[in-house]
Amino acid sequence: MARKPLKPVAMTETLANTLTKPSPKDWILGISPYVPGKAAADDGRPLIKLSANENPLGTGDAARAALVAATADLATYPDPSATKLREAIGAVHGLDPARIIYGTGSDELLHIAASAYAGPGDEVLYVRYGFAVYDIAARRVGATPVIAPDKDYATDVDALLAAVTEKTKVVFLANPNNPTGTMTSREEIARLHAGLRPDILFVLDQAYAEYLDEGEDDGGLELARTAGNIFVTRTFSKIHGLAAERIGWGYASAEVIEILHRIRAPFNVTTAGQAAAIAAINDSAWIESSRAHNARWREWLSNEIGALSNHGLRVVPSKTNFLLILFDGKLTAEAAMKGLWEAGYATRWLPGQDLPNGLRITIGTEAQVRVVADTLRAMAESA
Ligand SMILES: Cc1ncc(COP(=O)(O)O)c(C=O)c1O
Repeated sequence: MARKPLKPVAMTETLANTLTKPSPKDWILGISPYVPGKAAADDGRPLIKLSANENPLGTGDAARAALVAATADLATYPDPSATKLREAIGAVHGLDPARIIYGTGSDELLHIAASAYAGPGDEVLYVRYGFAVYDIAARRVGATPVIAPDKDYATDVDALLAAVTEKTKVVFLANPNNPTGTMTSREEIARLHAGLRPDILFVLDQAYAEYLDEGEDDGGLELARTAGNIFVTRTFSKIHGLAAERIGWGYASAEVIEILHRIRAPFNVTTAGQAAAIAAINDSAWIESSRAHNARWREWLSNEIGALSNHGLRVVPSKTNFLLILFDGKLTAEAAMKGLWEAGYATRWLPGQDLPNGLRITIGTEAQVRVVADTLRAMAESA
């Protein structure tokens, strides 16, 4: 039987639009894309990059050699279980490899943590001046980002606990924190964890933990041994000098790890990345020399900037491989960033992170930090 012709229906413009093109979710439209650290000035001139907290000494020889050797076979997929990598991490940190997950950078792990445990109607909590990815990870799954006030740029545990509601499902905290460089003590981390309901996943992002001195560890991995609601993440992008390979790892209860494996990308760490990371985590000489270099020149640069306090410059105390410098005098953070471009350096001005007076500068080589200090001093004195 012939079908009756359909009656034409008048369409509103909006309806026509919705039917003629894919319509993104409202919560995706609320995301401002992540802004990576610059490697060039606005005119395209290449700059020395002190804008993304990479290791200025580069990659250790052992990691580089392992990476090159692993490129012999490019036709085969990587080990999907990253077994040797998990075993290497487990041996170094005294952790059960079965409870270790790996990611395409720790970024992937932050995203899958939010995806697994939060969604529309839920809240994801983090500190003001938190790592920029937390906002994206929360919004990507339709959850509501909630920001707790800081205490002079540092994490305020009481403010975080006060911001928890019955809708809170995930709490993100970087320790030490980016972009402030501040550190929350072991006691405070334990107090924060004790104050969170057991159904809230506490994601403790330790991307900069390897820069801490002995005895400064925040106890996160220790807590995660027995707590069912802590997920500790680490990265090979910082002290290990492997940012180009995109490798992160995380440790949590067997239950949490099993859930996260369901949604990580298959084959999410490359063969060369796994090989390089195994060599890097066992290269204690490289780690130690990178840490010592960083501690020495972080202190030196902090003192140099500290001496410019009469020009309105202030360094937020840092436990990381970067400094957050606040500009509250005649020289603005934006002008300082542009002056450093002229000197050949990219740094990170942070208006998008609610810090229009803040410039984040990675601790570079000795020669680099000396130029940075000289340039900032000359600009501050002539402003
Ligand atoms: C606090 C923090 N967490 C996570 C990351 C992500 O690192 P990656 O994805 O390279 O492991 C960064 C990178 O800058 C960071 O600063």
